[in-house]
Parts: sequence; C-alpha cells; structure tokens
Amino acid sequence: MDMKLFSVMCCLVFFGTTVFGATTSREVRSKTLDEDEDTYGELKDTDIQKDDYYDGDEDVEEEAPEEDNNVDLRITSQPQTIVKKLGDNVRLPCLVSPEKADPIRVWRKDTEVLYQGSVPVSGSRNMKIDNGFLHIQLRDVGDFGEYNCTLILNEHDNPFVVHKVLQQEEPRIISLTVDNEQSVLDIGDTLTLNCNATGAPRPRISWHKNNERLGTEGETFIIQSVKVKHAGSYRCLADNKIGKPAHDHIDIFINHKPIVNVEKYIVNSDHKSNVELVCHVSAYPPPAVLWQKNGMNLEQNEPKIKFANERNNQRNILLISDLQEEDFGDYTCLAQNNFGRSTQNVTVVKTPVVRHFQKPHNETKDAVLMWKVDSKQPISMHELQYRKKGEPNWKTVTPDVTNATEGDTYTIKYVLTGLDPGLYEARVRSQNIHGWSNYSPPLPFEGVLAKHTAHQKSKYHKKDQKGKDQKDMSLDTPAQHRSEESSLGASTHSGSVRRSPLSMQIFAVGAILFSLLVHVRQ
Ligand SMILES: *[C@@H]1O[C@H](CO)[C@@H](O)[C@H](O)[C@H]1NC(C)=O
Ligand SMILES: *[C@@H]1O[C@H](CO)[C@@H](O)[C@H](O)[C@H]1NC(C)=O
Ligand SMILES: *[C@@H]1O[C@H](CO)[C@@H](O)[C@H](O)[C@H]1NC(C)=O
Ligand SMILES: *[C@@H]1O[C@H](CO)[C@@H](O)[C@H](O)[C@H]1NC(C)=O
Ligand SMILES: *[C@@H]1O[C@H](CO)[C@@H](O)[C@H](O)[C@H]1NC(C)=O
Repeated sequence: MDMKLFSVMCCLVFFGTTVFGATTSREVRSKTLDEDEDTYGELKDTDIQKDDYYDGDEDVEEEAPEEDNNVDLRITSQPQTIVKKLGDNVRLPCLVSPEKADPIRVWRKDTEVLYQGSVPVSGSRNMKIDNGFLHIQLRDVGDFGEYNCTLILNEHDNPFVVHKVLQQEEPRIISLTVDNEQSVLDIGDTLTLNCNATGAPRPRISWHKNNERLGTEGETFIIQSVKVKHAGSYRCLADNKIGKPAHDHIDIFINHKPIVNVEKYIVNSDHKSNVELVCHVSAYPPPAVLWQKNGMNLEQNEPKIKFANERNNQRNILLISDLQEEDFGDYTCLAQNNFGRSTQNVTVVKTPVVRHFQKPHNETKDAVLMWKVDSKQPISMHELQYRKKGEPNWKTVTPDVTNATEGDTYTIKYVLTGLDPGLYEARVRSQNIHGWSNYSPPLPFEGVLAKHTAHQKSKYHKKDQKGKDQKDMSLDTPAQHRSEESSLGASTHSGSVRRSPLSMQIFAVGAILFSLLVHVRQ
C-alpha cells in the first residue's frame, strides 16, 4: 500500500465521521435485514490469501489511528465463497482476535469503500454493519462480487479478509473432449475424456456410458488400456442442484476386426414359407457385410431375397420368401474390414428346432424341465431322454404334444419325479412331418434337490468341475459351490445337527473373547 491510498483512507475516515454525524437519520441503519445463516453452496476457496499481512518497508510518519500497536490483532474469519440468488441475504464475517478489541474495519466492494467502521461511505440501503458482520440483501447483480474487510491498524499492518459472493448459476458444459481429438482408438490405447463445466456452486460431474452410470466422478475420465467393449457413447453430466443438470456426449470407436454372432444357428421353416436370418456384427471401421449360400454371394432380389439392417448396421437381416427345396441348407454371414474378416453359419431346416432348454429353476424335490420347439409343421412327437451322469443308457419319455403357444413355437414342460439323488443330464428332440430335429446339447441337472442332500451336493459338484459341459446350462457354478462349502451358513437349512468343526472353532474363539471382555470390564 502506498502513501496516497493511506492518506485517502484517513480523509475518508474524517469525512465519513463528519457527514454521518450530520445525517444520523439515514435509512441505512434502520433497515433490518434477516439474519441469514444459510450456507448452502459455500465452497472453500483456497486461492484467497488468508493471513496476508501488509509488510511494506517504506517509512511513513505516524498518522495512523491511535491503536495499541503491541496488541497482536488479527482477523479470525476465514475467506468464504458464498453462492446465493437474488433476494437472498448474506452475512459476511470479519471477526477479530482478541475479541474485545474493536478496531476500525473498512469494508469494500471491489474497489469502492462501503463502510469505515460503522460509518456508511457508499454503503447503500440494502446493507448493514453489526458486530463485525456485514449484512447484505442481494437486490441486484451488482451486489455479487468480492467484499474486502481490512483492519486499519497502522500503515504497516492492515490485515484483511476477502469474501466472494457469487450468483447461483445453472450448470453448463463448456466442452467435452477426448485427448488428442482421437475418438477412434486402437485396442490397448488410453482413453482420456475431459468435461469442462461451469456453474455456481461448481457442478459435480458424473460419467455415463450408453445410459449406464460409470463409477467415476470429476472432470477427467480415463481408461488405461481400451478393449473392444469400451467403444460406445460416453456422456458427462454436470449437476449443481440449480436448475436442470447439463449433459453432453461423445462417441468413441475402437478399431477391431468384425465380431459376428447369429441370433439362431438353426432356423425352422417350410416350403412356401418365409424365413428371417439375423446376424449381429460389431466392427470398426464399419465392415462390409455379406450373405453367402454355398460359397456364393447372395444378391438382393426382391421379393425373393431382401437385405435389411437395423441399429446402425449392427443387426443384419436376410429375408428369404417363398422357400423352395434348394433354399434350405447353410447360409453364411460374413463381415470384413481392414482388420480382418469373420463368419458364422445359419442353417435353414424343415424339421423342428429345439430352443431354450432350461435348467430346472425351483429347488424342489422334482426336476422341472422346460424347453421350446419351433416348427412350422405340427409336432407329432416330443422326446426327452435322461440318464445319471456316467451311465451308458438313456431313459426315454415322451411328453404330451400340445398346441403351439405363440405362432410356430411349442412350450414343453416335463416333471421328472422320484429321481435318486445325483447328477443327471437330459436331452430333447421333436418330430414333425419332415422328420426328427437334432438332439439338443445335453443339459446337466441335479436329481432330488431336497434340502437334506446339501452335503452330497458339494461332492457331486467337485466331480462335475472336471466334466466338459459346464456351459450356461449347468446348475451352479463351481465358484458358488466353493463358497457354499466354506461358509458356515450353508448347513443351516439342515438345522444345527451338522455343525462343522470350523464353526466349533469360531464358537470357541468367541467364548474366549467374551470372557476376556468380561474380565477387562471388572
Ligand atoms: C483488501 O484491501 C486491502 C486494503 O486496501 C488491500 O491491501 C488488499 O490487497 C485487498 N485484498 C484483496 C484480495 O483485494
Ligand atoms: C474450461 O473452459 C473455460 C472457459 O472456456 C476455460 O477458461 C478453462 O480453461 C477450461 N478449463 C479446462 C480445464 O479446460
Ligand atoms: C459354414 O458353411 C460352409 C458352407 O456350407 C461350410 O463350408 C463351413 O465349414 C461352415 N462353417 C462352419 C463354421 O460351420
Ligand atoms: C417355484 O416354487 C414356488 C413355490 O413352490 C412357486 O410358487 C413358483 O411358481 C415356482 N416357480 C417356478 C418357475 O416353477
Ligand atoms: C389345438 O388346436 C385345435 C385346433 O385349433 C383344437 O381343436 C384343439 O382343441 C387344441 N388343443 C388343445 C389341447 O388346446
């Protein structure tokens, strides 16, 4: 601070005192403001100096107000950033230590002096001074800004505190960017997204992908080594509870060879009927997708052969109308881009097709088997075969044939009762006028799921782990079993009869701890 400023301040003190003496009836003091302690949206603001005492080295004559320079007077109030809306009240503290001291406080808004002690200089009707606090009713946007409270001790020592009063502002996204503007990445690259948002209070930023919330919060989102599955649309959402959250999105692509999947490997149809083959392709850059029959590319030839695609070319459909004998057989879906080519076959047949052979869901005494069969022609017979694992011969049953439930789909439910405990497998097939379907892949299941067999169950599962048909059709995953074996709770349905040695140990340790605790409390 320089000499000039200091003398200006002294003049102001003098002027203010005189003027104020003559105009005691000013409304300034009569205006009562509600004390508003609401600190919603307050943020710690670290870029404001806290104890920045002036320590200039100029020698200036002793003109300062008569204060005891030996007292170590300081401001105890911390700088605050307060977010408010028009019409709100704020109370800005400028408390000092020692509390008894009552130094002259100069309050400024930006550069304008508002108060000199309790004397209003340009402080207006919506402000008031009270015990070291400046109360403001925020009437117009000019009331937002920085408020500086400075103590006038002497020209060397003028501690101050500055509070920021910000106007509430809805969140807004300034930019959502990917590092190096590379929205196409190779497998193994690092993906870095930056979301720059404004708003007061400062908005909280969350990340979402394809409408699923990701764990990360904050301006930056990073995936160290991207895989194919990380391709997609990323969204950043900024929310500060003022107004609606703001959001923006960016699409990220990962270069890779096509991944091809068909919806059904075998499709049932019949002479003169139509058929729809569906092939899902994921690839970047966008691949060329072809359908082939006997190694020959198919050409669109409406109404006989029609291509369609959905979901941004990811779902590719081949429609064949009015099927003739030569239209049955194997079709190939082929997708190719710079990174490679992939294919999958679909077979069109007249015989029934078994689908959705499901594991029994209820833990009852009986094994309830359910599956579906597609057939354009009426089904003449269903067959269910089952055997205990390891036995050579299948037992065959023929579930009743019911009418198709939806279109050409039959739903079959069969209950196998009175099975001995053990691991079983089952397979099914169905017949129509064109012949038998293939057997479904064998479905492993457990005979007699009654509660008292829990102990044996785990033994069978260990055996099963070595078996090869541990597909999604299997009853339980080995992991579930391991945890069941090691957890004490697993034996609880069978009552307390089979308390394991481990639980005994835990019980003993518990008892010792309890007795120690009792001992200590005495
Ligand atoms: C507050 O006012 C004092 C006195 O004029 C000045 O020295 C100081 O730099 C001001 N602080 C800020 C952050 O403006
Ligand atoms: C965010 O945007 C503002 C306004 O354009 C800019 O001043 C600031 O530097 C940006 N921040 C980052 C981290 O990019
Ligand atoms: C797909 O069908 C073609 C033509 O019938 C055949 O040559 C090829 O081996 C089949 N591919 C697979 C994976 O079954
Ligand atoms: C499972 O059993 C419960 C009670 O026995 C029964 O209400 C429910 O329908 C069964 N669920 C299935 C899918 O069979
Ligand atoms: C099956 O459909 C036929 C003809 O629509 C009908 O006569 C018959 O009663 C149906 N059978 C059953 C079990 O619903």
